[in-house]
Amino acid sequence: MCGIVAYVGGRQAYPVILKGLKRLEYRGYDSSGVALLDEELAVYKKKGKVAALEDSLVGKALQSRIGIGHTRWATHGEPSDRNAHPHLSASGKLAMIHNGIIENYAQLKQELLKKGYVFHSDTDTEVLLNFIDDIRENNHCSVEEAVRIALKRVVGAYVIVILDRDHPDTLIAARKGSPLVIGIGKGEHFLASDASPIIEYTKEVVYINDYELAIIRPDELILKNLGNETITPYVQKLDLELAAIEKGGFDHFMIKEIFEQPHTIFDCLRGRLELEQGRIRMKGVEEHMDRLMKADRIIIVACGTSWHAGLVAEYLFEELCRIPVEVEYASEFRYRNPVIRPGDVIIAISQSGETADTLVAIEKAKEQGALIFGVLNVVGSSIARASHAGAYTHAGPEIGVASTKAFTAQLAVLTMMAIKLGMEKGSIDAVRARHLLSELAEIPEKVRQLLENTEDIKRIALKYSKARDFLYLGRGYNFPVALEGALKLKEISYIHAEGYPAAEMKHGPIALVDDQLPVVFIATRDAYHEKIISNIQEIKARRGKVIAVVSEGDMVIPQMADDVIFVPSADEVVAPLLSVIPMQLLAYHIGVELGLDVDKPRNLAKSVTVE
Ligand code: AGP
Ligand code: GLU
Repeated sequence: MCGIVAYVGGRQAYPVILKGLKRLEYRGYDSSGVALLDEELAVYKKKGKVAALEDSLVGKALQSRIGIGHTRWATHGEPSDRNAHPHLSASGKLAMIHNGIIENYAQLKQELLKKGYVFHSDTDTEVLLNFIDDIRENNHCSVEEAVRIALKRVVGAYVIVILDRDHPDTLIAARKGSPLVIGIGKGEHFLASDASPIIEYTKEVVYINDYELAIIRPDELILKNLGNETITPYVQKLDLELAAIEKGGFDHFMIKEIFEQPHTIFDCLRGRLELEQGRIRMKGVEEHMDRLMKADRIIIVACGTSWHAGLVAEYLFEELCRIPVEVEYASEFRYRNPVIRPGDVIIAISQSGETADTLVAIEKAKEQGALIFGVLNVVGSSIARASHAGAYTHAGPEIGVASTKAFTAQLAVLTMMAIKLGMEKGSIDAVRARHLLSELAEIPEKVRQLLENTEDIKRIALKYSKARDFLYLGRGYNFPVALEGALKLKEISYIHAEGYPAAEMKHGPIALVDDQLPVVFIATRDAYHEKIISNIQEIKARRGKVIAVVSEGDMVIPQMADDVIFVPSADEVVAPLLSVIPMQLLAYHIGVELGLDVDKPRNLAKSVTVE
């Protein structure tokens, strides 16, 4: 996701756009840029935060009453000046900004290369822009018509805003799958990814819908569909305050990001999981398939929540690919003298891609000849640059310090990797593979269903918010979810919590159990179901309070537990993508109930770039 701002009207455009981009930096901040049209169409762009762009433009005469601006969250092409938006078309006539992913950009790029087009960036955006401009030139049609024709071939998500050198009073915008708001002023219009750049100028807004195209002039807003039929704009009154808008109407970034998960998991699967064809496409895996297939061992290095994703991956790769896996805390791995062989594959998991311990760990492994594969959320991050290959999680910027949407996106990528490798190795047959692909494809909708009714989770959170200790127990794929649940609670509510394999309790920790101790069981239906019922009985026999996360339809555990949270049924391989959601919500609601800063918990940082 990124931040988009555009303006046309009687004011100087640059100050409006610059201020708006700063308001949108929470949406993406690896580079930014602005295109202004006065006599000439001028594009200014810079790697880094918006302040870097602002500094680079000090002293420049930036007179213009129309312009477009963008703050980027890279998906195609690492953060750099050249990959920053706006992009200029080969003809020099059009400038464009884009939020989203053009899945079929490679095919479009090939067609344009054959026509002799030269590209100045690695982005999918520049491809789309030249695709539009090529249609405009060859069909001798308007930009608006060219956009309509082009978008019928585009696969993916986009908001685009185009500035046309030959029409200095007109902006063309279109959207599918990414957000766009138009502010209605007197003799002026404002466009933005959300209302935060707009609200200080006007509270009258139009939200553009998918497959709609807008032609915007100072005194005119025309809305059309891709069939060229005019649509009456539905003008709404903004009733949110600025801070609330940045959080999408949620109270905190953490809860906003929890509720983004149906969308972010879908974005992560998009373009990779091809259910019809019964396959998974992952360029980073395909380019190193031989090394991955022949791996003697997979060593996963990560920290914190990412380390928990690594533990889930251990179950995935060992079960589906029959490859031995070791999961290492990067901070330990980097200081001991690990035995690393050239046949080893290192998977580095990191949301920020900047965690110092993880970065040093892979540098050491690389020196000893291992293949480094990064599962990362930030394009062009230090760990991305240090890796031989990788797969991005496409979860968008994660602002809340407690990782939520990045974790489920990591699981989605790792599950796709394991299924893909298992299919390639023949360690899972076609029937099982198709079943798992279908199960994975259903996850975004199941997460959405889960999030439709979270009142029970909130009630349970409030009931136990005064507890001093918690235990989180799970088995198999849900054991790492128990650890993640405990970490979420610790870092958000400062309540002591520990995660354990459920069967481990009888080896000591069960001594902790009394009638004051809430014990969270992640007990979704799987091969261990009968066993975990026994574990629950062990806790009940010692008067522990049992909070059970179970699969819809479970008739046994709800009879035993003090409190129950139902999640949609799913194969155990993908169950963590669902069972972690109540963990995130329990921690969030307890933290809020205790009046704590859930977005910026004490003592923590979003990215631990120190040793
Ligand atoms: C997770 O909620 C924490 N914020 C923390 O454990 C985090 O997962 C860890 O620092 C690793 O960060 P990374 O994924 O950016 O490498
Ligand atoms: N896919 C485009 C790029 O990588 C846009 C990313 C964004 O939404 O910021 O430049």
